[in-house]
Amino acid sequence: MEQKDNKHFWWQDGIIYQIYPRSYQDSNGDGVGDLPGIIRRLDYLQELGVSAVWLSPIYPSPMADYGYDISDYQDIDPLFGTLSDFDTLLHEVHSRGMKLILDLVPNHTSDQHAWFQESRSSRSNPKRDWYLWHDGRPDGSPPNNWLSVFGGSAWEWDETTQQYYYHAFLKEQPDLNWRNPEVQEAMLNVMRFWLDKGVDGFRVDVMWHMIKDEQLRNNPTNPNYEPHMSTHEQLLPTYSTDQAEVHDIVQKMRAVLDEYDERMMIGEIYLPIQQLMVYYGIDNKGAHLPFNFLLLSLPWEAQTIARAIDEYEGALPSGGWPNWVLGNHDQPRITSRVGLQQAKIAALLLLTLRGTPTIYYGEEIGMRDVPIPFGEVQDPQGLNMPDKNLSRDPARTPMQWDDSENAGFTDQKPWLRLARSYRRFNVATQQADSHSMLALYKRLIRLRQSEPSLMTGHYVPVYSDHQLFAYLRHQEGHDRFLILLNMSPRPCYFNVPNVTIKGTVEIATHQEIEGEKIQEPISLYGDEGLIIRLDPDATL
Ligand code: GLC
Repeated sequence: MEQKDNKHFWWQDGIIYQIYPRSYQDSNGDGVGDLPGIIRRLDYLQELGVSAVWLSPIYPSPMADYGYDISDYQDIDPLFGTLSDFDTLLHEVHSRGMKLILDLVPNHTSDQHAWFQESRSSRSNPKRDWYLWHDGRPDGSPPNNWLSVFGGSAWEWDETTQQYYYHAFLKEQPDLNWRNPEVQEAMLNVMRFWLDKGVDGFRVDVMWHMIKDEQLRNNPTNPNYEPHMSTHEQLLPTYSTDQAEVHDIVQKMRAVLDEYDERMMIGEIYLPIQQLMVYYGIDNKGAHLPFNFLLLSLPWEAQTIARAIDEYEGALPSGGWPNWVLGNHDQPRITSRVGLQQAKIAALLLLTLRGTPTIYYGEEIGMRDVPIPFGEVQDPQGLNMPDKNLSRDPARTPMQWDDSENAGFTDQKPWLRLARSYRRFNVATQQADSHSMLALYKRLIRLRQSEPSLMTGHYVPVYSDHQLFAYLRHQEGHDRFLILLNMSPRPCYFNVPNVTIKGTVEIATHQEIEGEKIQEPISLYGDEGLIIRLDPDATL
């Protein structure tokens, strides 16, 4: 996959930045972010140093699942703007040397999509087989025991045609039948529509859901289910997700991208490492980047993380490119999971590991999950299972731009309330503070993007214990870097026998020692992380 003469593709040596469009920048005073708003903030992104912007869905949608229920794949929802705004956005992104990645939601449509409207109109409609329709069991109950991710059965009864249809998510999100070649062709043409416009890639929603067991066998019980978990986790998704035939579909999508130059595909896939790796495809002809969610799910503990990184690196297929994620619109924010001090360590980790990093908007200013009072909850996952506290709204609140009213996001009431602390945690304040999270992100990005060892070099694990995690990045012919992360609040030493550390501190969470020469043994403050540029004669 590496290009000749050791050059890398943009999606390998660049940094991706995820925007949740509802929450980035409102330009028309309706309290919801939009495309013209994003255009206004592109200079900020360019200055931050990211290479590509991924937008969560912006297509026409009844918004039952905030855009992940699409009623027209080839237009823009008026809430976000027009196709002409989109063309401007794409042009403006490209003119800044950046790339644009769209969310593609091929597993399901909205129940308001014309395809589904036709499909549900009669059993003999030509689009009937575009979705998953089945008779109930003899007693009238659903065809099998499959559960919806958003609560309850995954089957919805349709009075008119007297059959059930399958929906892995809301009943307003019927799953398409990807075994049907017409469905395949229709969605591949959707991809071509955006690729022809010049879009640089897709993040493919719930890729591992796209094909289900043809015999609709019952899913087995999950022996590890606990009451706090989402109700669908009572069953193991053995037959409803990650079916072998999904890889043929991924390959077909990839073939469409390969009709064009340097386009790419990220797959949203929540699976254990070994199963995840299969999505790279035979000869890496599957997804370019099957999303790696290890850092989202593991306990924040040095040895656990170090081991998981080894396992991931070791499992990658030859030529498969790694990637790393700290947060997204479905998960609690990193600052809320590990605290502000460790969120800085997380930033060092994200931006010094081998592989493409994805930054979730607001991570760069240390945004936290915002508690949303129950009466204001918008997310269907939260509303459908009210006792489980599963709402994703807290991680989707408006971007905090400045300390003015509504944080510079809107001049009206925002669709979700803002963090109370936005007057301190905002872009403008942090731009003026060289000790801020934003300043740290900028330094990290600048260093990574100017040092081949960090950008695309090798990863070598050096040491880990219950506090400290140390690794090396190096690339033939360039300076090597040692990264030391104290993932605990207590001080610790890095003192490995027979190793002489000689170098200069390039970046430090506790900035006082940046630029200092290092002599071993090194001791670190609690929550301290260091990036050390090694002298050529260091024995590491
Ligand atoms: C993905 C999206 C999530 C959405 C779901 C259904 O997991 O990231 O936000 O609710 O798919 O489309």
